[in-house]
Amino acid sequence: MSQEQDKIFFRNFTLTLAFIAAMMITFYVIADMVTDEGENAKKNVNTISVAELTKPVGQVAVAGEEPEDAVVQNEIMADASAVGKSINGESVYNGLCVNCHGIAALAAMIPQTGDAAAWEARIKKGIDVLYANALNGYTGELGMMPAKGGNPALSDEEVKAAVDYIIKQVQ
Ligand code: HEC
Repeated sequence: MSQEQDKIFFRNFTLTLAFIAAMMITFYVIADMVTDEGENAKKNVNTISVAELTKPVGQVAVAGEEPEDAVVQNEIMADASAVGKSINGESVYNGLCVNCHGIAALAAMIPQTGDAAAWEARIKKGIDVLYANALNGYTGELGMMPAKGGNPALSDEEVKAAVDYIIKQVQ
């Protein structure tokens, strides 16, 4: 190998090394930029709420069942339409009063619905007295009738309708 050839070899070798070094720096810079973007993207993800990320893409509608939203909506509408509808004394009675007035075993302590003997004297007091005693509560010889049967959420009309229902069963 001549000296001239050596020189050319070293020059090319140096150039190659320089080129490789330049490439390394370039790759390093590019890699740094890319990971920077990655970090930023991660930050953005963190600012999106978990609710947003876990939000269902679609809701499953089962045939014959209504989606929850619709059920709530219907309940609201049912409530609204119940206002003004005639109150059903029987269902008020069955929802509450029956627990005391519909248990034959308690006949000695509570006037039972349908027991004409137990209601005769009470009906003689007059319907307004019975309404008032059912609404405000009443303590008699047998025991205590709680105001509105113990459910203050009942409207006066509902309680009166239940009283009407009880009386109808002995007339
Ligand atoms: C916790 C048990 C209980 C519940 C619930 C109950 N009652 Fe009574 N109720 C009584 C008892 C006990 C008496 C009898 C009190 C007495 O005369 O000693 C009575 C008496 C009555 C009387 C007769 C009052 C009078 O002046 O003689 C009426 C009317 C009446 N209840 C209506 C109702 C209606 C309507 C409901 C439902 C909204 C209801 N009760 C729920 C226990 C209950």
